[in-house]
Amino acid sequence: MQIIIASDYADMSRKAADVIAAQVKNKPSSILGLATGSTPIGLYAELVKDYEAGLISFKQIQSFNLDEYRGLEADHDQSYRYFMNQNLFNHVDIDKAQTHVPDGANPDADAACAAYEIAIRQAGGVDLQLLGLGHNGHVGFNEPADFFPVDTHVVDLTESTIQANSRLFDSIDEVPRQAYTMGIGTIMKADQILVVANGADKAQIVADAFTGPVVPQVPASVLQLHPRVTVIVDAEAGSIIKDRL
Ligand code: GLP
Repeated sequence: MQIIIASDYADMSRKAADVIAAQVKNKPSSILGLATGSTPIGLYAELVKDYEAGLISFKQIQSFNLDEYRGLEADHDQSYRYFMNQNLFNHVDIDKAQTHVPDGANPDADAACAAYEIAIRQAGGVDLQLLGLGHNGHVGFNEPADFFPVDTHVVDLTESTIQANSRLFDSIDEVPRQAYTMGIGTIMKADQILVVANGADKAQIVADAFTGPVVPQVPASVLQLHPRVTVIVDAEAGSIIKDRL
């Protein structure tokens, strides 16, 4: 696991964009695993800049997003499909038919999750998976649990995640209580993983997840067992882990 402490959010975003841009340049038909949340917004903006500068093309890229709220239609402004369109897909030459997000509108959870898992497998698996980090160590929507869930599945969101994500909704009552998410097994199958985190409020979980014990109560800790992980954090999020490296 390589841990890089960037100077600030802009530096973290640029360094993370460089990792993704290198993957896209080296393998123009890459399968990218993508993430939502506030953290990757800056790195998506950097990738759009690279595209506009003619440095990279997403023409042959396929993408699979980590997760989606259950019950939100794709055009809901808090759906992760909408987020991806707004922050990346609408601004680059990616073929939207080749971009995949779990189908939050499918009421049949088992069917939605099984179809997603099969689609990833049929595409040949994820080359590079981008991840943000929840305050409780969740990745995608894999919440702290007594075991590591393997495949794409439906989850009940924890109160802390509902609380954290309510900032983006008009009221906390509008936050969906469930989501579809890639499993830890799905994530760990990616060839390469890139984790980003910023802000002082992530400092403790960054340190616990990447230097603490590997336990399902801190889902991101499992990434310590993956052979090719790069963690890029800003100085604030790196303020505790820096003394443990
Ligand atoms: C959300 C998402 C995660 C995201 C995390 C952190 O609930 N499901 O995929 O990485 O929480 O979000 P943020 O980057 O806004 O802190």
